[in-house]
Amino acid sequence: MKPEIAVIARVGAHKAFEAAGLEPEKTEVYPTPYGDSRPVHFFRREGLEFAVLSRHGEAGYDLSAPFLNPRANLYALKSLGVAKVLAWVAPGSLRREMAPGDLVVPRDVLDEGKGGPQTFFKGVGWGFIRHNPLFCPELREALLKALAGAPFTVHGHGVYVATTGPRLETAAEIRKFRLLGGDLVGQTLAPEVFLARELELCYTALTYVVNYGEGLVDRPYQPGVLFEGLATPDEIQKVAAVEAAFPELILRILPALAATARQCPCPRLLERYRLRGDLGPDWRSWVK
Ligand code: HPA
Repeated sequence: MKPEIAVIARVGAHKAFEAAGLEPEKTEVYPTPYGDSRPVHFFRREGLEFAVLSRHGEAGYDLSAPFLNPRANLYALKSLGVAKVLAWVAPGSLRREMAPGDLVVPRDVLDEGKGGPQTFFKGVGWGFIRHNPLFCPELREALLKALAGAPFTVHGHGVYVATTGPRLETAAEIRKFRLLGGDLVGQTLAPEVFLARELELCYTALTYVVNYGEGLVDRPYQPGVLFEGLATPDEIQKVAAVEAAFPELILRILPALAATARQCPCPRLLERYRLRGDLGPDWRSWVK
């Protein structure tokens, strides 16, 4: 199999597809210069091949955000011939109008994290590349069209504020992120999206809100429950409904993403360095 498209999901995504009646054709862990990738599961549905990788764990939430290895995961996907990536991400909301259970297709990222390696390019001068539009415009548009009619509220834009994690924010940090123009807050989109651009991958994200950011709404502290009471049982139920719809949503979206022509800037993000003779034809020689 040679999937052109991959879904980078959260936890145990392959199991959700299995429960929806799809059997993975194979599953492999790929060694890369950055360490092993997370297991990659290969699926096929009506002629469409796609790869699925869960960032945080196969069965449970085993790896928190600061310990993810997006370089290994993206390197593995690129090695497989993947050109398009859909990221499935579960942030908090900084706006009352973006409610738990809503889908948001972010347009931009504000990197407020102190996370790990931010680049593939070590010991070279490459990587000074423009980041607007940040997400692949073709994939983004195809994603939004494919979401029309989905049984959830869809927001077609949003600024995702990236934090380091795994802790949640203080109320003051949430107030600051709102002032900075943020709409969502989460721990995984950066540096993943920046690294995907260094490999000239088309990348877009579909997020679903799991809670309101700290202090945005008044919630008593409740030890022992999810997010210590930051989300209400009703909100948790709305989020569970989106999670239950994950395979169906993704299967609705993937054919539209697979059909994009890649006439976007993504395949040529490093063209300047290529023209300068810095980059050889084999992408593996670019990354160190
Ligand atoms: N903050 C940071 N990351 C998150 C949140 C949050 O409120 N919710 C889900 N991921």
